[in-house]
Amino acid sequence: MLDSSGLSRREVLQKCVALGSITLIASQSSAAMLLAFEEKELHKPTPPNELGPFYKKRAPQTAMLRAAGDPGMPLSVSGQILDTRGEKLPNVVVEVWQTDHLGHYDLDGYRYRAKLPADGSGNYKFESVMPGHYPDRVCQHIHYLVTAPGHKPLVTQLYFATDPVFEGDPDKNFNRDPLIHSRELVRPVMLVGDPKDIHAAVNFELCLERV
Ligand SMILES: [Fe+2]
Repeated sequence: MLDSSGLSRREVLQKCVALGSITLIASQSSAAMLLAFEEKELHKPTPPNELGPFYKKRAPQTAMLRAAGDPGMPLSVSGQILDTRGEKLPNVVVEVWQTDHLGHYDLDGYRYRAKLPADGSGNYKFESVMPGHYPDRVCQHIHYLVTAPGHKPLVTQLYFATDPVFEGDPDKNFNRDPLIHSRELVRPVMLVGDPKDIHAAVNFELCLERV
């Protein structure tokens, strides 16, 4: 992966050494020191979360899960898809599935289920509605299955800091849903638009580990 200057991350670090932005003070070789530096800077993989019983294969390829006139709060979800070195992954398959705004999964069809079209840039985005609550689960959530060549599949779930279950304090209350093992999966919600045309927007970064 190249940055805007056309240099790889390693080349940028080597340039930093050459220009004095990084000074190596050690008995090890510069290559070993730079490798250790890169490893210390690793991005944390996105925490996994249960697949759940409602996954269906062969979801349609679309980024628009919401149909015109669907009730519920319109929701846009977007994010980068990275590896643990922080480099964007362009060839990733992201599948998402969720309930409608009342907490119902479409078990017969494919409403609110999608395989997102890869945009080749290492970013993803889809349009949906805020999922509802349902009796077997405490919190609103969207399921993810993310696959990329050379990387471990990621099964996880996205949660919303606005969920009433958290009472406005997800730092303290995130584990009121016993399936939420990581606070990182509870994402802030931005409200955008005007009061007549408001929608929610959430950013959820996906970081995959190499096999
Ligand atoms: Fe679920």
